[in-house]
Amino acid sequence: MARHLITSALPYINGIKHLGNMVGSMLPADVYARYMRQRGHDVLYICATDEHGTPAELAAKEAGLPVSEFCAQQHDAQKAIYDGFSLAFDYFGRSSSEQNVEITQRIARSLNENGFIEERAIRQVYSLTDGRFLPDRYIVGTCPHCGYDKARGDQCENCTRVLDPTDLIDARSAISGSSELEVRETKHLFLLQSKLANEVEAWIDAVGQEWPTLASSIARKWLTEGLQDRSITRDLDWGVPVPADTWPELAAEGKVFYVWFDAPIEYIGATKEWSDQDPANRDWESWWYEADDVYYTEFMAKDNVPFHTVMFPATQLGTRNPWKKVDYVKAFNWLNYYGGKFSTSQKRGIFTDAALELLPADYWRYFLMAHAPESDDTSFTWELFSASVNKDLADTLGNFVNRVLTFSRKRFGDAVPAGAAAGEAERKLGEEIAQLLAEYEQHMDTLQFRKAAQSLRSLWSAGNAYLEEKAPWLEIKTDQDAAALTLRTAMNLIHLYSVISEPFIPTSARAMRAAFALAGDDRAWVTSDEARALDSVPAGTAFTVPPVLFAKITEEDLESYRERFGGEGA
Ligand code: MF3
Ligand code: ZN
Repeated sequence: MARHLITSALPYINGIKHLGNMVGSMLPADVYARYMRQRGHDVLYICATDEHGTPAELAAKEAGLPVSEFCAQQHDAQKAIYDGFSLAFDYFGRSSSEQNVEITQRIARSLNENGFIEERAIRQVYSLTDGRFLPDRYIVGTCPHCGYDKARGDQCENCTRVLDPTDLIDARSAISGSSELEVRETKHLFLLQSKLANEVEAWIDAVGQEWPTLASSIARKWLTEGLQDRSITRDLDWGVPVPADTWPELAAEGKVFYVWFDAPIEYIGATKEWSDQDPANRDWESWWYEADDVYYTEFMAKDNVPFHTVMFPATQLGTRNPWKKVDYVKAFNWLNYYGGKFSTSQKRGIFTDAALELLPADYWRYFLMAHAPESDDTSFTWELFSASVNKDLADTLGNFVNRVLTFSRKRFGDAVPAGAAAGEAERKLGEEIAQLLAEYEQHMDTLQFRKAAQSLRSLWSAGNAYLEEKAPWLEIKTDQDAAALTLRTAMNLIHLYSVISEPFIPTSARAMRAAFALAGDDRAWVTSDEARALDSVPAGTAFTVPPVLFAKITEEDLESYRERFGGEGA
């Protein structure tokens, strides 16, 4: 059986992420990883903070901290939030780790040996006031295309054109504001991607067939536009140093690799960080090197697709070493906030720390996955959010659980009642549940999360429909055994829900499962026979009634959320 390597795009270190970041990478990867583990697969889910580059240096400067300290703090802050979201990484690393330094340098050396790296002299902006070169975002000025006066050296935020720092009009340093700049010649390393374009294309022809269109179409678009050679070093203090054994001159000048060169390599680096914590039992290389039995799935938002489908594979191919390459790319569109963009810089939308202060993680997990921007951009609105939480989680699932357990305890005590043998209604229900479970599995297997969430919802609804039809609160008046059968069957549904809902709502699922004192209940998943029989929880099993699983969001809550975060008009 294949081993499953799963990674989600590495969140950038410069600040707390918003819900749009969460739904496009880490959360779906976690839902999938949990599901695959439950199905008995050997899973390794790796993520890390992406810590290098100018945004990290600038954010550290703004925070008044040395960049290494800033990154250490921000890493811990992000990790705490992801714990709060119940993201069950096997390892959450840091791209500034020594492991990543070592592997990044090793990969650069291999590329060089194979003739895919070239030293080129380029003209770059140097700040006399700051005594340094000003790469990317360190320089601001007026966009030559649209006239926006705060364009950055790498890109104009206004018209989104990609820029070169030397393109800017009235350029000035983002550090000191000084316009005492001059253009100097300096050497940088270039990755000769043009020489690898054919190979990358052949590789995508082979593996890209299975990818969802969003990923494969973006990859193809980049290939058609032509793979350019690109500079992979920068003049920064913070980054993976260019190795002195291979490029003594550049190393002496303090050059480091460009953040997009070392960041994807951190998928490997973080796996080594994981492995180095327990080397006797963990073998990072077996996941990444000559790892033919590994199936590798990557999760990311659409802006990350070119880096993962074209540039990182080109880097891997150029080493001529058997590095594991991605098998399946799951890409997401944007989650918007009332039709506009979530924005970190403009603080628009909901950030992950604020979300957790407001409501438990399961509410967010469920909503985000049920509305994941898979085929299109989708919008977060408080109205949609509260409708989903109230209807699906509180009414359909939570209420079912509480109603059944409370009623049964009141009438039959603290153990699952026996009652009559299963009849036609139970047989029909079992068929329906088995059928829906098969659909749910199929959607999860093919990483279609919205459809999977819909199947899960249908499974919850089937329980409600059964309960309404049998109406044990009426049965009890005339036929105790009939009522007991209904309740026992409903309790078996609760147990089934507790198992299969775990990928989406792990905390609530655990609470549901803990309601039953089922000795030796170590089943990770439910077979279709078990789903049909609905008899995993036998009569006589002691149970407790868990506290209300999902509180409804009231009109007043809604009002205060809109006010705090800005709703429609914001
Ligand atoms: N930090 C990048 C972003 O936020 C994603 C990096 S993914 C990696 O867009 F693979 F390069 F690490
Ligand atoms: Zn512009």
